[in-house]
Amino acid sequence: VWSAVPAGPPDPILGVTEAFKADKDPRKINLGVGAYRDENGKPYVLNAVKKAEEILVQQNPDKEYLPITGLPEFTASAAKLAYSADSAPLKEGRVAVTQSISGTGALRIGGAFLGRFYPHVKTIYLPVPSWGNHTPVFRDSGLEVKGYRYFDKKTVGLDFEGLKEDLKAAPEKSIVLLHACAHNPTGVDPTPEQWKEISDIVKEKQLFPFFDMAYQGFASGDTARDAFAVRYFVEQGHQIALAQSFAKNMGLYGERVGAFSLVTSSPEERARVDSQLKIVIRPMYSNPPLHGARIASTILRDEQLYRLWEGEVKHMANRIIQMRDRLYDNLVGQNTPGEWSHIKKQIGMFSFTGLTQPQTKVLAEKAHIYMTADGRISMAGLNGNNIDYFAESVSKAVKG
Ligand code: LMR
Repeated sequence: VWSAVPAGPPDPILGVTEAFKADKDPRKINLGVGAYRDENGKPYVLNAVKKAEEILVQQNPDKEYLPITGLPEFTASAAKLAYSADSAPLKEGRVAVTQSISGTGALRIGGAFLGRFYPHVKTIYLPVPSWGNHTPVFRDSGLEVKGYRYFDKKTVGLDFEGLKEDLKAAPEKSIVLLHACAHNPTGVDPTPEQWKEISDIVKEKQLFPFFDMAYQGFASGDTARDAFAVRYFVEQGHQIALAQSFAKNMGLYGERVGAFSLVTSSPEERARVDSQLKIVIRPMYSNPPLHGARIASTILRDEQLYRLWEGEVKHMANRIIQMRDRLYDNLVGQNTPGEWSHIKKQIGMFSFTGLTQPQTKVLAEKAHIYMTADGRISMAGLNGNNIDYFAESVSKAVKG
């Protein structure tokens, strides 16, 4: 039956993990997927998560189905975290929010909802480059996918002029995908002033802003600061769509905890949107998983756990920042050809190194160092034990 099914390529990000696992060399390093590692290169379960799980064990809750849109305490707290407690649309009951299978699931629900109900141009503009999964998620949701300029290879920074030109040239009312903070894969974010200009263009052109916020807290260590763009847009009256993930900031990767929300114009409109979100979700996966949402909502609703969690997010963000400094010093110390200051300037989990595809290939084959083919490295994969070997290997690869 399946003789005509062609073999597909490995996933550009998760395929790197497969290659890493198959490598038996003890020096191997995985800088592919964006998953936090501690000082010893080990996955890190946050203490706030462990404590929340202890509380949950004591509560001995049942395992009944959740409602289609998820655990109400969780969705309420997730929305508060993103929009802030005093956000007008939240207070006015105008935000439709549903639990999702992490950030990817949130994007997919959003894509499907827009595909079905967005009354204007069903074209979504993604930054170039963007997270590798954005294109398939939105394409498979039935949207047309196009790009707007974002990254400038020459300056290894934001191509702000290109971005503005492209958004201005997009057909009115197109959908535009914005990374709320810690842009993946480049680690390059607009400044608050630039966000304000983007907001003006979005308003002028009546574009529909769809924010992907997968790293709240991870960029600066401060959840409010990282939510600046989202909150500013909402204050400016934009009715945004928002995908949230708790994979990185709570380390709940495999628990698949996320939320999708839409700002609407009234509680009555919200109720209608809400009813259709259910109709989108029900045939996809019926209703979302329970455990991770309980963990996240326990943390978000308990003052002490919340503070513990904030401290841990800061700790993770700071460790990454330290690794950026060390990597920069190390590469410069070894007279590695090129300009490396972008490693310190970039934000969040990733650094877009500027390494070329052939260089990344050499690093995998000769040094057992794995990263995505575009030269993105997950900074969290670096630690005191492997950073010297990594920098030395990069230096060699660049010198050729
Ligand atoms: C990444 O970009 O590495 C993460 O967002 C994980 C993923 O699902 O790709």
